[in-house]
Amino acid sequence: MIRSVVRGTGAALPRRIMKNADFEGMVETSDEWIAQRTGIRQRHIAADDETTASLGEAAARAALADAGLTPDDIDLIVLATSTPNNTFPATAVEIQNRLGMQHGFAFDMQAVCSGFVYAVTTADLYIRGGLAKRVLVIGSETFSRILDWSDRSTCVLFGDGAGAIVLEAGEGAGAIADRGVLAASLRSDGAHKEKLFVDGGPSTTGTVGHLRMEGREVFKHAVGMITDVIEATFSTAGITADDLDWFVPHQANKRIIDASAKKLGIAEQKVVVTVDLHGNTSAASVPLALSVAVADGRIKKGDLVLLEAMGGGFTWGAVLVRW
Ligand code: UT7
Repeated sequence: MIRSVVRGTGAALPRRIMKNADFEGMVETSDEWIAQRTGIRQRHIAADDETTASLGEAAARAALADAGLTPDDIDLIVLATSTPNNTFPATAVEIQNRLGMQHGFAFDMQAVCSGFVYAVTTADLYIRGGLAKRVLVIGSETFSRILDWSDRSTCVLFGDGAGAIVLEAGEGAGAIADRGVLAASLRSDGAHKEKLFVDGGPSTTGTVGHLRMEGREVFKHAVGMITDVIEATFSTAGITADDLDWFVPHQANKRIIDASAKKLGIAEQKVVVTVDLHGNTSAASVPLALSVAVADGRIKKGDLVLLEAMGGGFTWGAVLVRW
């Protein structure tokens, strides 16, 4: 059977780093509060010339270089983002043009923080359905543009950045030992819209709007939703937490990551944590964490890797990949 195998990873971060202490003169907060409640120590913030398209392009080029491929080798670009350069066209198409790709197709996927997990699942289906052989899956965000910088309960949490992987059609036996995407589980529930949303949009206010979140409410639901969808993925794949080599969760809050890993019985040393470095970069958080753990040699060919995310919508999901 056809399997969607990871061939390369890449990342891109804005030049400017903003430390927790940099917020202290802006809103009533402290490095101590942010670090203790979230695990975040710093985040990257995009300059005017750094956009979702430019960061996505840079991450895509890094993933292509890592894979030893060129844009000519790619059939499809799926970009997970909630902060596109324009309302339309899709920023994925802009990235396609920036890469000089004059063939194939590209589209954006909007599932907020779960965007990358949704995008990997979608790309896998395009590959297994025979519509594409090689897909660039990108998560790129500039959440700094939609933050209310006077709201301490949200502005300290998010950051900008991009991560990408190249998925390529390969052969598998249909077994858990195959390399590639092995199982996935996706969920959404619009009843929770008001807990995490942006208060503007083309069809309502005609403005971009700002992110609004009832953090405590999101927190309350997060661990249960994350563990449910991971247990469903384990059941589809016929594995347990002990079979995993690496857990690469959405990087929103270290306390959510720790509580989810504990509830699932995933050992602490198998958990990839980058929330301290990047903050919550929404759809970019999982591929950024992946690129860090691949670059430092933790994630290696043949490892069993579990990706997970939960965010606005609510949306949530998990994907199991043999690297
Ligand atoms: O990626 C999408 C998914 N999003 C998430 O996963 C976020 C989920 N939520 C969270 O991570 C946490 O709920 C937060 C980090 C947002 C907040 O942590 P918390 O422990 O749930 O704090 P809280 O909201 O219960 O607030 C505790 C106190 C409040 O003061 P009072 O009412 O107890 O007097 C807040 O006003 O902390 C206050 N507070 C702050 N204090 C200093 C809120 N933000 C700040 C701040 N600095 N930046």
